[in-house]
Amino acid sequence: MVVFRERVEEQLVNTRKPTAGNVQAGFAPDQRGYGPAMTSSGVTLAGAAVMIAGATGGIGSAVAGELHRRGARLALVGRDEHRLHQLQAPGQRLALDLRSPEACRKAISEAKNRHGRLDAVVNAVGVVAFGSTSELSVDAMEELFLTNTFLPIMLAKAALPELEHGGAIVNLSGVIAEQNLPGMAAYGASKAALTSFDQAFSREARRAGVTVIDARPPHTETGLAQRPIEGTAPSMRPGLDPNRVATVICDAIAEGATDLPSSAF
Ligand SMILES: NC(=O)c1ccc[n+]([C@@H]2O[C@H](COP(=O)([O-])OP(=O)(O)OC[C@H]3O[C@@H](n4cnc5c(N)ncnc54)[C@H](OP(=O)(O)O)[C@@H]3O)[C@@H](O)[C@H]2O)c1
Repeated sequence: MVVFRERVEEQLVNTRKPTAGNVQAGFAPDQRGYGPAMTSSGVTLAGAAVMIAGATGGIGSAVAGELHRRGARLALVGRDEHRLHQLQAPGQRLALDLRSPEACRKAISEAKNRHGRLDAVVNAVGVVAFGSTSELSVDAMEELFLTNTFLPIMLAKAALPELEHGGAIVNLSGVIAEQNLPGMAAYGASKAALTSFDQAFSREARRAGVTVIDARPPHTETGLAQRPIEGTAPSMRPGLDPNRVATVICDAIAEGATDLPSSAF
């Protein structure tokens, strides 16, 4: 059980209660005259600089494709350099394992340096494991919480001070955060913890004019269930098309949505 102690080196974001006075209702286009105009109702995606973590995954690559179609400028982050370069969407490629605060900060700073600004971060990183709690190894439990919970918190911590006023952070938790399931209890708990983080962090981020969207799509056909870090997936009904999930997420960023429950997909 050493991974948590080694990895979680940094304090969480200070919690400061937002007040009516410090929640800015609207804001002007970028004063440097470069980049998209922001409105209080979302990010104008044409010209926006967006970083996608987990861009090599099923949902992340679909989000990348949809954002590219809408005119966003992309920074694409994944572990696998070969798969990163195979992605169709154009943009910066950053091959990084994000399970450390340093890697999260590097991803954010390199993405921001590339375009001189950062308007949104979509975190589609995740791993899954199957098996009853008595069967699942402690190593797998640690990996679930490191990748699905701590990594998004570290990435959000790195991103918040670098995002433009009016920007957005999207975290992919999932429908299981709304209703956990036997045989996936630790995975579901790692996602429910992320949803809980997003709920509170969204109030902290409001001070900086940043919207936090907790996206909880139902089962989606990405092959994730066939790549568990441990165990075997139960038989499942066919899932959603990743392109559908990507469209809903991009609409949410553009429209300034503050939550994406499973019913939104
Ligand atoms: N598919 C579903 O049914 C479903 C439903 C609801 C929510 N979700 C959530 O949505 C997110 C995306 O799922 P998906 O189905 O698209 O999964 P996926 O196809 O397996 O993609 C996972 C992505 O996470 C990246 N990743 C994993 N560990 C990483 C690490 N340590 N550092 C950097 N990148 C890492 C992978 O990069 P590499 O390719 O380089 O390994 C890949 O890009 C996950 O959080 C998942 O839990 C999925």
